[in-house]
Amino acid sequence: MAQRRAKWAVRGVMLGALMIGLAAQAQEGGAPEKNPIKVETRPYDTAKLAADEAIPANVYRGRTIWLQRCAYCHDGVGQPSYHTVGPFLAPEITSGLGDAGLRQFLTMGTENMPSFQYTLSPAQMDDVIAYVKTIPANAQPTEDQLAGRLPGAKPVQGAQGSVD
Ligand code: HEC
Repeated sequence: MAQRRAKWAVRGVMLGALMIGLAAQAQEGGAPEKNPIKVETRPYDTAKLAADEAIPANVYRGRTIWLQRCAYCHDGVGQPSYHTVGPFLAPEITSGLGDAGLRQFLTMGTENMPSFQYTLSPAQMDDVIAYVKTIPANAQPTEDQLAGRLPGAKPVQGAQGSVD
């Protein structure tokens, strides 16, 4: 009988200890002023984010033609070496030529660039002209890309494959 009571007493003490422990823990967790977590919310206009980018249909069609017929000679960023036979069509070039100049160029070609008068319809030519006028200046390959370097990396003197 006495043994039994002792057993219960031990259990009671253990339970008490557990309760104290839990209470201490609850107090720690329940003291936000000690360790405040600041939650910031940033409202997004989800409708705007999920909406399709507004690319005019003719520019979109022109870009497809560009990728198929022109990019391999003009768009360095799309090429493994970044080097192309034709120049990067910077905004100053396309605005300098104007629509008529661009059309003339595409129709006639040069000794280094094919003529597109038989391979693009007048409507396709209009579309590709609309697209090239949207090529932004910052789409040009960077110095690092042209030199085959990681951005900002210093060239290793005498390294094999060094392009400097
Ligand atoms: C086979 C390569 C090649 C293809 C394909 C090509 N071009 Fe060219 N393009 C050139 C070269 C090279 C020049 C530079 C002029 C020259 O050397 O004759 C040039 C020049 C131009 C210029 C004038 C740039 C300037 O500085 O005045 C425009 C505009 C142009 N290309 C647009 C296009 C468009 C648009 C297409 C696709 C429909 C296209 N090119 C396809 C090689 C090409």
